[in-house]
Amino acid sequence: MKKFNNKLFRQTLSKFATGVTVVAINSNEKIIGKTVNSFSALSLKPPLVLFCLDKKTSDLKEFIKNNYLSINILSNKQSEISKNFAKKDSKWKNIPFKLSKLNSPIIDKSLANLECQIVKSLKEGDHIIVICKVVNLYLNDKLKPLLYFNSNYIK
Ligand SMILES: Cc1cc2nc3c(=O)[nH]c(=O)nc-3n(C[C@H](O)[C@H](O)[C@H](O)COP(=O)(O)O)c2cc1C
Repeated sequence: MKKFNNKLFRQTLSKFATGVTVVAINSNEKIIGKTVNSFSALSLKPPLVLFCLDKKTSDLKEFIKNNYLSINILSNKQSEISKNFAKKDSKWKNIPFKLSKLNSPIIDKSLANLECQIVKSLKEGDHIIVICKVVNLYLNDKLKPLLYFNSNYIK
């Protein structure tokens, strides 16, 4: 067994294959999106999900004080969208999306879009755990997921 250290911890976590989402808000007409793979189901009744945000991420306060957000689960055709929203000051210019009735950015052709209400955010370690209630969703059942494993996309 290798000796525990930060590098080994990161490397080990990267071996856990995940899907990829873009979490997004429209706050005072500023649309913000971030690529996030820390998404997880939390509860079926009530319908709760969670994701984690780095405390150092830009617009953190705006993000967690916003009432509603969208979680766009990306398909295997959307790796460029994932790369776009992993950048600092990511742009919406070439991203096909619409705003929902709840004012959440819904990215077209995603595998699924969840419209959520933030119910709680908890500080822990260097991240904030954001717990959300799903209030609406769109599922595109025919699409396949974008997967992330070992710091690479698997299409
Ligand atoms: C596949 C992938 C998954 C990511 N998952 C998370 C995550 O769960 N939480 C997070 O805070 N940042 C995550 N990031 C990093 C953010 O996408 C990135 O830091 C952010 O969008 C860039 O803007 P910032 O300067 O505001 O941090 C991820 C990046 C990639 C490429």
